[in-house]
Amino acid sequence: MDTNWLQGFFDREYLRLWAGSLTAERTQKEADGIWNLLKLRPSSRVLDAPCGYGRLSLALAERGAIVVGVDLASDMIAEAERNRRGIENLRYLEHDLRTELPEDGFDAAFNVFTSLGYGTEEDDVKVLRTLAAAVRPGGKVLVESNHRDLLMAYLSRGNKPSDRLPDGTLIIEEPNFDSVKGVMNTAWYWSGPSGSGKKTATLRVYTITELVRMMDKVGLRLISAHAGLSTEPFEIGKRCALVAEKLVME
Ligand SMILES: C[S@@+](CC[C@H](N)C(=O)[O-])C[C@H]1O[C@@H](n2cnc3c(N)ncnc32)[C@H](O)[C@@H]1O
Repeated sequence: MDTNWLQGFFDREYLRLWAGSLTAERTQKEADGIWNLLKLRPSSRVLDAPCGYGRLSLALAERGAIVVGVDLASDMIAEAERNRRGIENLRYLEHDLRTELPEDGFDAAFNVFTSLGYGTEEDDVKVLRTLAAAVRPGGKVLVESNHRDLLMAYLSRGNKPSDRLPDGTLIIEEPNFDSVKGVMNTAWYWSGPSGSGKKTATLRVYTITELVRMMDKVGLRLISAHAGLSTEPFEIGKRCALVAEKLVME
């Protein structure tokens, strides 16, 4: 995993371009989904890993969960801290999730909004192992992501994703999937009143079967699969949320 690339990609420009198109309503709806899927209660101890700029950590802490948000990108953690609103049951930590966290015993942990795939498959197994180690035996881990079946259906329609920000900036994505490596090489181009630019990324995209196998490898036994961050059962053509339980060692 190229951590310099990650720090450079998830920067102030990313916040302007991507955070700008994520509405507060969408974040609250996703927080509802996480709350219900993980059966959280006020005072549940929850790990948001990675947390990005903390949009979901904040929404869950405002509902009374005791939340720790972890991310390795300094700009993301700085933005999360700026938005913390002095909430006491919310903390952030700048940390590479491929290595063990300094605390454990969480009731639940989640990795959502396509937060795996930035390095090798081994890197992703390490991240999942960190989440598994951080929850108590019997605790829940949620992984929500885009996945290969969904991406293939999308790309086969020849779509070129585009988005227009409230200030008029137009963002166009040009994705190219490498079926042998299982990675998507993608480029975003934008232009608007605050200037123009380009960002590129290489993102590993797994099938749901592969994700379940990777979770299993680190002692996370699948309980259920859902249509995105909702309690609805998984459906073809939707993002996928996998809820697993940490095995209790005999
Ligand atoms: C698409 S963002 C999603 C963030 C957040 N889950 C959300 O829903 O807003 C992916 C995040 O993963 C973080 N990330 C990727 N690999 C990581 C790693 N090994 N350790 C910590 N953070 C990582 C990036 O810095 C970035 O903030």
